Amino acid sequence: MRNKNYNNLLVLLAILLNGASVFSEIKVLEVKVPPVATRGAEVTFLCNYTLNDESHYATRWFFREELVFQVRSVAGREKKEIKGTFSVELEKSNSTNLVLNDVPLGAAGPWSCDVIGSPPRFSRDVSSTILQVAVFPLNGPVITGVPVRLGNLTSLTLNCTLERAFPPGLIHWKVNGMNAVDDDLVVYPPIEHPDNTTTTTVGINVKLDSPLRSPSIKIKCIGQILDCYWKTKEVVLKRQGIVNEDMGVSTAFSISAGIPTRCLPYFFSFIFFVILISFY
Ligand SMILES: *[C@@H]1O[C@H](CO)[C@@H](O)[C@H](O)[C@H]1NC(C)=O
Ligand SMILES: *[C@@H]1O[C@H](CO)[C@@H](O)[C@H](O)[C@H]1NC(C)=O
Ligand SMILES: *[C@@H]1O[C@H](CO)[C@@H](O)[C@H](O)[C@H]1NC(C)=O
Ligand SMILES: *[C@@H]1O[C@H](CO)[C@@H](O)[C@H](O)[C@H]1NC(C)=O
Ligand SMILES: *[C@@H]1O[C@H](CO)[C@@H](O)[C@H](O)[C@H]1NC(C)=O
Repeated sequence: MRNKNYNNLLVLLAILLNGASVFSEIKVLEVKVPPVATRGAEVTFLCNYTLNDESHYATRWFFREELVFQVRSVAGREKKEIKGTFSVELEKSNSTNLVLNDVPLGAAGPWSCDVIGSPPRFSRDVSSTILQVAVFPLNGPVITGVPVRLGNLTSLTLNCTLERAFPPGLIHWKVNGMNAVDDDLVVYPPIEHPDNTTTTTVGINVKLDSPLRSPSIKIKCIGQILDCYWKTKEVVLKRQGIVNEDMGVSTAFSISAGIPTRCLPYFFSFIFFVILISFY
């Protein structure tokens, strides 16, 4: 009988404590990470939370289940502790910001910010987000197999290679602005490198007989990584000479990087240049 009353009291206490926490809960509003971080770069994670009346609390950052960094705040003073194996910038990190340098590919995945208040309520909230880590090649795609002159060639095969990307790059070919048809493509096995990057090569067979009625053929290779890296290189095959209808090849290589807004913090320059090489 006594025992039962005691239980009821506990239940009542729990309801009261819960009710109290409705008015003074810790809330994690947002965890912000860059949508894509480049391997080896410095990355800042932001945990935006409201404390209400808590002045003693701890912020903890987890990568998956692994505790990476924690800060205990007591009346405005912070005690920081690095845990685990990630390279945390202690000076730049605090109860709202976590700064990692030299981000490895292994940092890709869910990161969560967990804020917990002091006893007796232990008001607590957690929020997570996904970090992607990528390796972008310094150079854009490279086209090989361009002949010095077309002569009497009726077809030719070009390769386009995107070196050392993570995740593996995609290659798209366009001929005179149209997507190449699959039958004209030659897909080679990707090359895996020890640093976990991949080199991708896709070839294209170009028929020269009928299209050469037009003054030139524009063949464009586009290298893509995720949704934020697009670089193109273009070869223009031109008919040269009128008398013998001999053809020369002129190649225009252009590299451009069209970076959508959501990747912008990681690319500070927009590269666009054209080199024109003519062969006679
Ligand atoms: C935190 O979130 C609030 C509400 O969305 C916003 O007004 C504030 O600017 C954010 N703070 C930071 C540092 O992003
Ligand atoms: C944490 O550091 C960032 C800059 O690194 C600063 O903007 C922010 O106000 C700091 N937060 C706290 C709670 O000190
Ligand atoms: C295209 O690449 C493949 C695989 O690397 C190679 O075997 C082939 O010779 C290349 N062809 C041209 C035209 O460069
Ligand atoms: C193409 O031209 C070369 C010399 O330039 C010649 O030896 C060859 O027979 C020609 N091929 C065809 C199919 O006309
Ligand atoms: C490559 O991936 C493996 C397996 O995910 C990992 O153990 C290794 O550390 C990675 N190497 C590099 C250089 O990122």
